[in-house]
Amino acid sequence: MNESNDNFRDRSLRWMPGGSNGEYGIPEGDAPVIERGAGCRVWDTSGREYLDMTMAWGAALVGHAHPKVLEAANAAAVNGANFAAVTRSMVELAERIADLSSCVERIRFVASGTEATMLCLRTARAATGRPKILKFEGAYHGQHPEGIASLVGSEPPEWPQSDPAGTGAPWVERDVLVAPYNDLATTERILTDHAADLAAVIVEPLHRCLPPVDGFLQGLREVTARHGIVLVFDEVVTGFRLALGGAQQY
Ligand SMILES: Cc1ncc(COP(=O)(O)O)c(C=O)c1O
Repeated sequence: MNESNDNFRDRSLRWMPGGSNGEYGIPEGDAPVIERGAGCRVWDTSGREYLDMTMAWGAALVGHAHPKVLEAANAAAVNGANFAAVTRSMVELAERIADLSSCVERIRFVASGTEATMLCLRTARAATGRPKILKFEGAYHGQHPEGIASLVGSEPPEWPQSDPAGTGAPWVERDVLVAPYNDLATTERILTDHAADLAAVIVEPLHRCLPPVDGFLQGLREVTARHGIVLVFDEVVTGFRLALGGAQQY
C-alpha cells in the first residue's frame, strides 16, 4: 500500500475506533480508504482500483454516482433539501409508496433503517402496553440494542433467551426473545408461552439470504393476529426490490 493511502489509514485510525465505522474487520494495514466510486468500481486514496462487491451493503445497488441519481439529487438540492416541515416531494412520495405497498395506513419518513425499526418496536410497545419483542436468530434490524441482539453469537443461548451482543443494554436479555427462522412450530410455542408480554414480532421476510419456507410467514401472520401481537416486516432490504411492493407483494 503506498504512502498516500497509509497516511489516510493512520488518520482514520486516529479518529475512528479500529479505523472503521463498523464495516468489515479488515486487518489494520490492509483496509483501503476510499476516495471515490463510479458504477461498480471504487478507488482508494492512493489511486488503486477495486471491484466493489458490497455496493454499500446493497444501498448503492444501481452503482456509485449513477448519472440518473446524480441528476435527480442535483435537481432537488437546488431547491434546498432540509426543512423542518413537510415538503411537496414528501407528500408525493408518500402517495406513491401508499399506492405500491398494500399494508400502508400512515407514513413516517426517517433517515435510516435503524430508526425505522426502532420506532416500529416502540410504537408496538406503546400500542399494546406490552414490554417484549421477538426476533429471529441471526437477524439484523439496525444498530439499536434490539436490532443487534443474537446477531452472531458463537455460543447462542437456548431459545428464546437472547444474546445481548455486548454490554450497555441490560434490558435486552429480559425483553428480547429469540426464535429460529423458518421453524414455525418452535416459534408458535414461544409466542403462545409469552403472548401476554409480547408487543411485536419483527422479521425480515427474506432472512438475510434465507427465503421463507412455505407457510412460515403466513403462519406468523396467523399466530400473531390470534394473540394481538404486532407483526413487523423489516423491508429495509427487500422493499421496492424483491417486488416493487416489497416482499409482502412478492
Ligand atoms: C434488514 C435490515 N434492517 C435494518 C437495517 C438498518 O438500516 P440502516 O443501516 O439504514 O440503519 C439494515 C441495514 O443493513 C438491514 O439490513
